[in-house]
Amino acid sequence: MDKYSKIIISSGPTREWIDPVRFISNASSGKMGFCLAEKAAYLGIEVVYVRGLTEAQYSNPKGARVVKVETTEEMKDAILKEMQSSSVLIMAAAPADFRPKNSTDSKIKKEEGSETLSLELVKNPDILLSVDEKVVSQNLKHILRVGFSAETDLLDKNATGKLERKNLDFIVGNYVGKDSKGFGDLDTSVIIFGREGSRKELGPASKEKIAAQILEYLNIASKEGQLSP
Ligand code: CTP
Repeated sequence: MDKYSKIIISSGPTREWIDPVRFISNASSGKMGFCLAEKAAYLGIEVVYVRGLTEAQYSNPKGARVVKVETTEEMKDAILKEMQSSSVLIMAAAPADFRPKNSTDSKIKKEEGSETLSLELVKNPDILLSVDEKVVSQNLKHILRVGFSAETDLLDKNATGKLERKNLDFIVGNYVGKDSKGFGDLDTSVIIFGREGSRKELGPASKEKIAAQILEYLNIASKEGQLSP
């Protein structure tokens, strides 16, 4: 197999501003993307870490070039700019799917006598679908695309649905929720679904170990044993 020349790893939540002091985001810490980027640095190819507002300790993986973004739109633009032939894209980020239709320049005030506030949201672009458009329109070759699918229910069905819809080679699925393991620091288990119908369970293990196992399974390195220092 030819070597890939670049691996782009997205990480963390994006942030969509409602007004100058409030935003919509989610509970992603950025740890999985960070662990993948630190392990990928041993593959001997360029690693680009496109990150939203991750927790501080997951903002700067050793050996990676960091591109910092805030909104889903910015993450999309940064990833599209990096995508070229012979690239691997691992979308571990949790981009916000919606943004406020009107983000105000002044802080929203409580209205006297009103107990509710309505916020109108519009859909953000799907980054993986935008990548697919670029791959097709620019005829990019030798691309590997990997998505993530964090689900509260029906993992196999939801993950494989996204794999097909977003035209991915693999999708890494896991269960999340307040009481299950997924977001944050705890050990995690994942299932990697492949385009050709493969299904591989990994873990439970630390995110560091799972990240190394994911990269090994994806077989990105051209030589054995490149994932340890
Ligand atoms: N993703 C993306 N662009 C978005 C939202 C998600 O590229 N605007 C990517 C994520 O990084 C992940 C995959 O798509 O790799 C699946 O993300 P997920 O949030 O689970 O899927 P959605 O398509 O947003 O579906 P839903 O929120 O309805 O489950």
